[in-house]
Amino acid sequence: MSRVLVIGGTGLAGRAVTAEAVERGHEVVVAARRVPDDDSEQYVLGAAYVTADIVTGDGLEEAVDGVDVLIDTSNAVGKQAAHVFATGAQNLVHTAARFGVRRAVLLSVVGTDRSAYGYYRAKAAQERVYLDSPLDTRVVRATQFHDFVTAIFDRGRPLGAILAPSGVRFQPIAVTDVARVLVDAAEGAGEPDSVIAIGGPRVESARDLAEQRKRASGSRRYILPIRLGGALGSTWRAGRNLAPEHAVDGVGYGAWLETGA
Ligand SMILES: NC(=O)c1ccc[n+]([C@@H]2O[C@H](COP(=O)([O-])OP(=O)(O)OC[C@H]3O[C@@H](n4cnc5c(N)ncnc54)[C@H](OP(=O)(O)O)[C@@H]3O)[C@@H](O)[C@H]2O)c1
Repeated sequence: MSRVLVIGGTGLAGRAVTAEAVERGHEVVVAARRVPDDDSEQYVLGAAYVTADIVTGDGLEEAVDGVDVLIDTSNAVGKQAAHVFATGAQNLVHTAARFGVRRAVLLSVVGTDRSAYGYYRAKAAQERVYLDSPLDTRVVRATQFHDFVTAIFDRGRPLGAILAPSGVRFQPIAVTDVARVLVDAAEGAGEPDSVIAIGGPRVESARDLAEQRKRASGSRRYILPIRLGGALGSTWRAGRNLAPEHAVDGVGYGAWLETGA
């Protein structure tokens, strides 16, 4: 059993990681800027919760004290991304190294090393901070989560549509499958200072996935093809978001939809 710190453990991936690490018998501490109420869906029974801000450094020393392994599942969008991914990672790894944390596992995204998209570049900077640090680091790059792909489709809701980016394929993965790989890495799977890619069980076109979403939800919305502009669109159309050779034997999109998500 190790003492495991999950940074961003109140978020989507972080909650799954926290539940997986608790289930495996680790002593789990979750750190985020806001601690959830114990009756909220963010709260995982068996984990301890502390407030810490990796950007300002508030509460960080208390959070890492006595920790063996940290798993970073923090996230931010827009202008905050660079702060959380670069400054936050710097603060975190320096404090962790000072307090004798043995190992770090970072959750990243497939394609961050091959894209000019601002968010991906911020993630690439975050990865470099970890890989250049004295901590024994595993970077786990995952493909798009089922929830994220669904959120893209549902952005068409105000138009009565399901948006399907044209020329794009996804290999969506369940956060529970991502969590298993992250906790394996926290327990020492993989090589020190390595990058591990993981993807969902199948690569499918956005159109086919959108059809599955439509059927599963019994929706009358029509499927609206959209051309995604910018660096994200070109990264995805080039298939740089895929890792078919690293497909997990896990929950596919259709099966995930059947769970009522
Ligand atoms: N979405 C996808 O399809 C996908 C695919 C592959 C990889 N990923 C990666 O997965 C990671 C997690 O994504 P997610 O969607 O699960 O995130 P999320 O639900 O947005 O959760 C983000 C977490 O980070 C915490 N956080 C944000 N700023 C913080 C700060 N300054 N200090 C401490 N904690 C902070 C949040 O809590 P507070 O706000 O309370 O601080 C929250 O717990 C991201 O790094 C993302 O790049 C995502």
